[in-house]
Amino acid sequence: MSSDAGNFPTWRGRWTFILAATGSAVGLGNIWKFPYIAGENGGGAFVLVYLACILLVGIPVMVAEVMLGRRGRHSPVNTMRAITAEVGARGYWRGLGWLGWMIAMLVLSFYSVIAGWALAYIPEMAIGAFQGVNAQSTKDIFDTMLQDRDRLILWHTVFMLMTAAVVTAGVTRGLGAAARVLMPILFILLVILLVFSYWHGDFARGFSFLFSFDFSKLTLRGVLEALGHAFFTLSLGVGAIMAYGAYMPADASIGKTVLTVALLDTVVALMAGMAIFPIVFAHGGIDPGAGPALLFVTLPVAFGAMEAGILIGGLFFILVVVAAWSSAISLLEPGVAWLAENRGFNRFTATLLLATVIWLLGLGTVLSFNDWAEYKFAGLTFFDGIDFLTSRILLPLSGLLIAIFVGWVLAPDVSKDELNGENSVAWPLWYWVLRYVCPPAIGIVLVVGLYDSFS
Ligand code: PFF
Repeated sequence: MSSDAGNFPTWRGRWTFILAATGSAVGLGNIWKFPYIAGENGGGAFVLVYLACILLVGIPVMVAEVMLGRRGRHSPVNTMRAITAEVGARGYWRGLGWLGWMIAMLVLSFYSVIAGWALAYIPEMAIGAFQGVNAQSTKDIFDTMLQDRDRLILWHTVFMLMTAAVVTAGVTRGLGAAARVLMPILFILLVILLVFSYWHGDFARGFSFLFSFDFSKLTLRGVLEALGHAFFTLSLGVGAIMAYGAYMPADASIGKTVLTVALLDTVVALMAGMAIFPIVFAHGGIDPGAGPALLFVTLPVAFGAMEAGILIGGLFFILVVVAAWSSAISLLEPGVAWLAENRGFNRFTATLLLATVIWLLGLGTVLSFNDWAEYKFAGLTFFDGIDFLTSRILLPLSGLLIAIFVGWVLAPDVSKDELNGENSVAWPLWYWVLRYVCPPAIGIVLVVGLYDSFS
């Protein structure tokens, strides 16, 4: 028996959940990060390991998160409180809700700044700033942008306002409507880019780069990076998916829904890779392993050399912003839901308050690229520090705790009941993987990530 939703709002149908969760999962991680880390790790073999990680770690933990959310039917903080009370678990497990809340705030603070870069690129593309430029000039354009503190603040502000506006509007009107509109647009834009890259890029080389498995190029760090990324790309460990799970209709199948979301997320990442690499290979002198700069420095060279570069380049950065937008919404929603639920705030005030705090924190990231670039702690700028803290420490920790909580603390009957496991063959398999595969796998990412960083 599932918890009664009472008068708690739920999505209009399973597909709204799927679109919203996909909107959360698909973001800068797919379009900016996946291609560049695949590029750095030599392509194919990395992609294969990444897919295995999605399957073995990402999907089971995601099922656990959605299940907790739907069972609790509150914001993650209160969901964890309700469930720990329900099953008589020790009080400190409640901290999981808080942990996710804190990570979401930290992640959103820099996510918004990077999404702001993509926003800034849309007018640049439109005025043809990249037409006919070489890689050195795009790097100069990018560096000039990073130096311009006020411009970064402006776009960071615009992005936070866009995010806050949707979250303010609330679950069904705001999130649901945004998901229904944004996700299909994203897909259409990706298909257009794929078709373009098929006709104008070196499609065969791009394809073989991403899908021919050369294991000699794969390192142990690459395997761990793939695991960590599988985690980030599915939005796990921050309560985002848990919060959306709370809005899921009681009769929808969590297993099928999660499989659909993970599949869509993976397809978008692969589509982004297949849109990017053929263009990279068709324009000589562009290094697929260029790193984080790949999207902002390297790709505009390709757009600048194309006939329809202004249009295609503009479309591409609109696509990046749309993807980042729906992810950012899911990072803000859990905190707002909690304030609105517990502290007597209305959604507007709650959103305004949190968005302001996150915006202020984001200024640290903005300044890391200019005024504060020289201020480093343990070799890290403010931005590097927040990125390190969230992706290397807090996210894996949070996911590890979720796997342990659902796999080992919660009685099996709870998840069996919520997942309709009585007559399912998938349930025992999921439960086994969650108990015996996920904790050690995530634990290794955490330990090796930290060891690697401090050694
Ligand atoms: N999954 C997003 C991406 O791949 O860009 C990042 C993210 C969004 C992480 C929302 C966590 C989250 F709650």
